Parts: sequence; structure tokens; C-alpha cells
Amino acid sequence: MPEADWAIIVHGGAKTIKAALHQRNRDGCLAAAEAGAALLRAGGSALAAAQAAICVLEDDPLFNAGFGSVLNADGEVEMDAAIMNGADLGVGAVAGVRRIRNPVILAAAVLPAKPVLLAGEGAERFAMANGIALCDSRDMIAAERLASEYAKAHDTVGCVALDIHGHIAAATSTGGLPGKHPGRIGDSPIPGSGLYADDRLGGVAFSGDGESILRTMLAAQVMQALTASPADIAVQAAITQLQRVGGEAGAIVMDAAGRFGIAHNSEHFALALHRSGWSEGKGAIHRNELEMCLNE
Ligand code: GLY
Repeated sequence: MPEADWAIIVHGGAKTIKAALHQRNRDGCLAAAEAGAALLRAGGSALAAAQAAICVLEDDPLFNAGFGSVLNADGEVEMDAAIMNGADLGVGAVAGVRRIRNPVILAAAVLPAKPVLLAGEGAERFAMANGIALCDSRDMIAAERLASEYAKAHDTVGCVALDIHGHIAAATSTGGLPGKHPGRIGDSPIPGSGLYADDRLGGVAFSGDGESILRTMLAAQVMQALTASPADIAVQAAITQLQRVGGEAGAIVMDAAGRFGIAHNSEHFALALHRSGWSEGKGAIHRNELEMCLNE
């Protein structure tokens, strides 16, 4: 694939997707990629594009992030999110937040501050101090979650974007595992595990079993592999590392030239990508389907 002036890839989670929801997953991811692409096309930053794409996924109850988050063992929502700036290796991350409509917006507010990761009540106090309104935690529970249509999904959403200035950003957002222990934090807000971005190499965002991804530092492994390998080889090598500890995961990678890599050991991995030179984005519910779209 040739180099791109700008590019964006999003995922809606590594999971098994019921056939009836395949198109909704494609459409949801495409809408997110398009939101980011609209900014990138107009010269906007990779950070702004990644945030905009994740907000679309957080607002869609289909996905386990923001409004669609799964419930913990107490029947409450606890969300994690992060955003990373490949230009200066800045990271903003939040964990265990309950009253934040769009956790990625709070993570982006943390980005210029000294802390990298704020958790729980402290993160919510930071939100209030920075003009981000708190909502009622009960308003974060989508009706579909209670009806359990999507209750078993344990996905995460993620995005990697490259802007016309050559900057890369990566972002993640999740409700974590359904029925998780209150206070449990997964890989998503942890740089080097759930995400990473470095303008010199590229960016990566993971979805899947957080404990397995944390124990194997998968985002760090991808970044190390990118020093010597193309994006598709680097990401596949990281997913292969999971065999040491078990677990299901998927990852999207983009190198500094806007070339994509995708790998997952889950049955499905909702995806969409868009780049300069394309008239529209492409969505898929697993890597093979996306490759077929690219070869058409
Ligand atoms: N990958 C999301 C989590 O395990 O929390």
C-alpha cells in the first residue's frame, strides 16, 4: 500500500459478533472513521481526529465504551480511556470513571497536564475543574445493556490516526470486562499495553482480554517490532505472543507512512479505515473481509 498524506483506522472490538449485528458493527466503525477523516481532510490534527472517532464509538450503544459500556459486578459502569500524542509522547489517560459521558474527552483534557493517568473520583474532580460536566452514572447504562442484547461483548474501541503534518495519535476507550471486580483496570489506559504512538514509528491500539495484554505489554512489543518490520508483520507477531498467557485480542497498527496492519485471534474484529486518495472509507467485521475490500 503506498504512503498516505493522512489516514485513520478504527476498531470496535475483538469479539464474536452475531450475524444480525455485522452490518451495524461495520456501519458504526465507518461512521467513526468518517468523523476522524473529515477533520484530517481539512488539515486537522491526528489527536483531534482520534478523539472525534472514539467519541462516535462511545456514543453508540453497540460498542463497549462510553454510553455502551458493560456493567461491573456491582451493576455499575466503570470506564477507562487514553489518548497518546506521537509528536511528543504525551499521554492522557483515565481509569475507573463512572460519571463521564465521553471518557476520551477527559483523557484528552489530562494530556497537557502533568499526570499521565487519573483514576476514579480524582479523575472526575479533574473533569469538573476543567469544564467537563459529570453525568448521573445511571445515565451511562444503555437500555440494550440491561436487555442484555450486547451484554456479553467484552470489546474495546480504538483508533490510530496520521495527519498531514506527519503526526500520529492513538486512542482507546472501554467499559472493560462484563462483571469485572469493581476497581479492576484493564490494558486500555496503559501506554505500552493498550496503546502507543510515536511519530518516528507509528501507532497501535488494542482490544481484548486486558489482563493478558497487560502481562505481555503488547503495545510495547508492536512498537519494538516496528523498528525492523512492516506494520502487518509487527502486529501479527504481537498477537502471536498472546499464546504464552492465553486470551483473545485484536490490534490495529499504522506506521509513520500511513500503512496499516491488523491482527486478531478473536472470531471477529469490527474495523474501518479511511485515507487520503479514497472517496470513502471501508468497513469490515474481520481482517479477511477488509483485505477483500482492499483488493477489489
Ligand atoms: N481491553 C479492555 C479491558 O480488558 O479492559
